[in-house]
Amino acid sequence: GASVEVDLQGILPGELKIVEWRGKPVFVLKRSQAMLDALARHDDLLADPTSRRSIQPEPAQNALRSLVPNLVVLEAVCTHLGCIPSFRPVAGAADLGESWPGGFYCPCHGSKFDFAGRVFKSVPAPTNLTVPPYEIISDSKLLIG
Ligand code: FES
Repeated sequence: GASVEVDLQGILPGELKIVEWRGKPVFVLKRSQAMLDALARHDDLLADPTSRRSIQPEPAQNALRSLVPNLVVLEAVCTHLGCIPSFRPVAGAADLGESWPGGFYCPCHGSKFDFAGRVFKSVPAPTNLTVPPYEIISDSKLLIG
């Protein structure tokens, strides 16, 4: 069918897996405690911190944009013009500035997203990365779609 099963075994905290769903790449990120801590510190820098204008299933309409804190699922499609953002987990990256908290960076026109796919202000992307519908089947299995 249209659903894709994702094996979560072997993904360590802080690691990203990219899967394909309906022809689109999808990020599956196991957030580390440091990533979760980073998310709490920059709401004032975000364009849509509570995701009112962004797309996610209702159970993921929360600050972490996820069903459980340590796992986030995001369509890897920039909400500006559809490029694939890159995973830039290291805070203070030389090319992104000392204030870079870690997250995703779109190389096409410089849009920046945090570890919940929430977009920062003053970049071209208008909304947060889309969270697709998904279910957590077990500790080791996820179903997207
Ligand atoms: Fe990502 Fe333009 S497509 S910033």
